[in-house]
Amino acid sequence: MTKRPWWQSAVLYQIYPWSFQDSDGDGIGDLRGIENRLDYLVDLGVDAIWLSPIFPSPMADFGYDVADYCGIDRRFGMLADFDSLLASAHARGLKLLLDFVPNHSSDQHPWFVESRSSCDNPKRDWYIWRDAAPGGGPPNNWISDFGGPAWTWDAATGQYYYHAFLKEQPDLNWRNPELRAAMLDVLRFWFARGVDGFRIDVLWHIVKHADFPDNPINPDWDPATGEMNRVFQLHSTDQPEVHDIAADMRAVADAFGREGDDRVLIGEIYLPVERLMRYYGRHGEGVHLPFNFQLIDAPWDARHLARMIADYETALPPGGWPNWVLGNHDRPRSATKRGSAQARVAAMLLLTLRGTPTLYYGDELGMENGDIPPDRVRDPRELREPGLGLGRDPVRTPMAWDDSPHGGFTTGEPWLPLGAGWQKRNVAGELADPASMLSFHRALLAIRRTSPALTIGSIRLIETAGAVLAYEREQDGERMVIALNLSDTPVSVDLPHGTPLLSTLGDLPARAPSLLRPDEGLILKVDTPA
Ligand code: GLC
Ligand code: MG
Repeated sequence: MTKRPWWQSAVLYQIYPWSFQDSDGDGIGDLRGIENRLDYLVDLGVDAIWLSPIFPSPMADFGYDVADYCGIDRRFGMLADFDSLLASAHARGLKLLLDFVPNHSSDQHPWFVESRSSCDNPKRDWYIWRDAAPGGGPPNNWISDFGGPAWTWDAATGQYYYHAFLKEQPDLNWRNPELRAAMLDVLRFWFARGVDGFRIDVLWHIVKHADFPDNPINPDWDPATGEMNRVFQLHSTDQPEVHDIAADMRAVADAFGREGDDRVLIGEIYLPVERLMRYYGRHGEGVHLPFNFQLIDAPWDARHLARMIADYETALPPGGWPNWVLGNHDRPRSATKRGSAQARVAAMLLLTLRGTPTLYYGDELGMENGDIPPDRVRDPRELREPGLGLGRDPVRTPMAWDDSPHGGFTTGEPWLPLGAGWQKRNVAGELADPASMLSFHRALLAIRRTSPALTIGSIRLIETAGAVLAYEREQDGERMVIALNLSDTPVSVDLPHGTPLLSTLGDLPARAPSLLRPDEGLILKVDTPA
């Protein structure tokens, strides 16, 4: 029998490199900083880290504008620092994933510099160039995800180029075989160096309709949601051809994988569930994990969540492994969205549902969205469409390690201010407090790691009423019941006989309590007949 791939039972941890740990006093996190903090991650109990982009970049979009896919940005260190980090991670049994940004490069990438140099440059077709519309103006009505037109005029060569994001992020043309081969070589470069996998940026964006028709207008557009929603991205995203490309990437990953050393691909895809499922591939030849972001925005209602979990499980293709996410570097912090008490319930949900969970750095401390004074705003999303709450700086503030100046994150001036409350909400302080969010996460992860039911077991939703969400996980006769009170009032429950292992409230209730306290989530190990 082949062994189950490591990533199915793993807990992933996303590091935003700018904000994890600075080692050289420039106020920006770096690879040595991360290496110095690996023991923290081992003690926390996660299995793999995913680093948001660390490649050379002008940082127009904080690294999601890559100028060299096979190097390390000087702010973060050098290739030797990367090799050292990878070796240290592996020595501790931690896997390491990088962030592959295939939809677009930086406009400073030598490929784009060549491409824009003339209409007959061999790399012209590596990007997406089109003539102006017959009456002048952009070739179609597509809108950048960051607001404004998705086409920028290049006066020197008399054509427009397409960019789904900033004009500093021209989209690559995946219909060009040479570009495609060059990008697959990027994966090989890092796999050969030993990385364990990739998170793939905006995977559903990478192929566009071959004829570039106008996108349909959204009649119900609410300007408060940003200009991108003025049209439906019908022709600019999620084209059928994307699946062949995902399969090509998967074949590269599989070619490097060995039993016990599988390489994993995780696709960033914001789509409704039925369309999301196609990214597993018809026969499992797509990415291993199309990110499932539903928990981030889900209405915090037990019935709704139960239906969402059931529908997602039902929609999974044969062999498709589930995954869950509570937050990332683009979305609101869980502790802010759900409030600090329910953030614990949310964490218990994330870490006990069936499938691979991804934790966002700092969520284990209960970090909240930071307040960014106007003169410290860095995110282009906020700068281009200010005041709509679309900016992402608040969820990217530096990690606080202790109560020394700047939380021990840097000896210099941090690139973004630390979030309010860091003097208390920091690693050292929370480690010393058994009731802290961090202590709760450590306990939760410790229970999860040693429980086959929680890591790889089946899931069965339990019929409940009111604000209670409950389910059972089972594996090899081990049964765990998870019961979550999504409200701040007590609720009665009917639980099987068993031993409570962990409560979001810290102290453990009696065996199989008949009541869940306000904001209480409980893991119960069900008695099995002797
Ligand atoms: C992804 C990234 C986001 C970035 C965008 C463009 O959504 O997560 O941070 O701005 O792609 O690369
Ligand atoms: Mg630094």
